[in-house]
Amino acid sequence: MGHHSAKSDLIGRSTQNMRVAVIGGGLVGLSTALYITESLPQCTVTVISEKFSPNTTGDVAAGSLIPHTYPDTPLHHQKDWFKETFDYLFKIANSPEAAVAGVSLISGWQVFKMPPKDAFPFWGSVVLGFRLMTEAELAKFPSYTFGQAFTTLKCQSSLYLPWMEKRFKMNGGHIETRKVHDIWELHGSYDVVMNCTGLGARDLIGDMTVFPVRGQVLEVHAPWLKHFIRDVDGSTYIYPGQDGVTLGGTREVDDWSLLPVAQTSKEIIHRCSNLEPSLHGVAVIKEKVGLRPTRAAVRIEQEILCKNKQQLPTIHNYGHGGGGFSVHRGTAKAATELLVKLIPFKTDFYCKSKL
Ligand SMILES: Cc1cc2nc3c(=O)[nH]c(=O)nc-3n(C[C@H](O)[C@H](O)[C@H](O)COP(=O)(O)OP(=O)(O)OC[C@H]3O[C@@H](n4cnc5c(N)ncnc54)[C@H](O)[C@@H]3O)c2cc1C
Ligand SMILES: *[C@@H]1O[C@H](CO)[C@@H](O)[C@H](O)[C@H]1NC(C)=O
Ligand SMILES: *[C@@H]1O[C@H](CO)[C@@H](O)[C@H](O)[C@H]1NC(C)=O
Repeated sequence: MGHHSAKSDLIGRSTQNMRVAVIGGGLVGLSTALYITESLPQCTVTVISEKFSPNTTGDVAAGSLIPHTYPDTPLHHQKDWFKETFDYLFKIANSPEAAVAGVSLISGWQVFKMPPKDAFPFWGSVVLGFRLMTEAELAKFPSYTFGQAFTTLKCQSSLYLPWMEKRFKMNGGHIETRKVHDIWELHGSYDVVMNCTGLGARDLIGDMTVFPVRGQVLEVHAPWLKHFIRDVDGSTYIYPGQDGVTLGGTREVDDWSLLPVAQTSKEIIHRCSNLEPSLHGVAVIKEKVGLRPTRAAVRIEQEILCKNKQQLPTIHNYGHGGGGFSVHRGTAKAATELLVKLIPFKTDFYCKSKL
């Protein structure tokens, strides 16, 4: 009988107004919330977050689509997420929305002192025109022996994050600015909670496997630069953008400080000037620091929390580290697919039968 009622529940619920709370209004929370309103219009979606743009991690990022590798996430998932994200943003880049969304194509080089293990990385077939650099191109970089040239996409976060927020609201989404101290606060008001809290997952659900990797970047005035240049092994990069050219970077594990360090900025300019000599003496517009919410694997998982025979279905989507822009649309889709599967568990049937 329980079986039968669960099944009829599914049919009933799928057309019913599901109340979904998304905790976290950064890149991952917003893209997840937007994806739900686009694909499941019968859901009422509320984003609850302590911070929104311009105060999130994504606001610090250059926003370029070059995947970071998550060691414990199967590579085929990473490739699917990247392809989903690239194809989605490429359509936006080719539409009249491109300027307001801040999505554009960018070409450039990734250079190496020693050839990497994967000369043709898993994402090489997703970006446009991937090839190895020619001798003539490498002549620009005397201390490098190997390089890859390609065209990819870039999200100007100062435009892209507000654009997503606007689309989400146009689709009927709600926004609340506050901190969630205990996930059970939401029980009763919402049927499902999406946990897109980035580093906040440490406090909110006690997941200590997500940790900060601090990154400091600079924005400089160098409008003559049009190509990106990236030395992956040296964590040094130059990304031309709309508000200036972003120079980076640093990777400081378990460092929580959001204050820029002057000496670090000097070192970044020094490293970038070695790659691109025209940056010597460049004017700094601003310094920014962000904490990448890093984890060995992105966590996209469902968990049905039980307390006093009550249940709170939760879907986790966090731990995107240094590569959130590159995969956010794909992970939003994957998290929404889990939401669809949760729909029949709306009543307290699951926790009651488990206890
Ligand atoms: C210097 C730097 C450069 C980068 N460059 C790139 C790049 O070029 N390409 C790329 O793909 N990626 C890049 N990234 C990575 C990318 O920025 C991140 O992966 C992404 O921004 C993470 O998004 P998020 O939404 O998970 O986290 P966040 O933006 O940190 O969002 C988490 C949100 O949850 C909220 N929150 C947390 N806990 C709670 C709670 N209990 N109650 C309410 N709200 C809560 C916070 O207030 C915040 O709004 C870069 C990152 C940095 C720091
Ligand atoms: C961002 O932070 C600043 C400084 O704390 C604050 O004044 C502003 O209201 C914040 N913006 C948003 C959208 O939360
Ligand atoms: C988010 O997930 C983490 C890890 O499971 C958990 O500790 C935290 O309580 C969750 N937060 C919310 C609001 O569900």
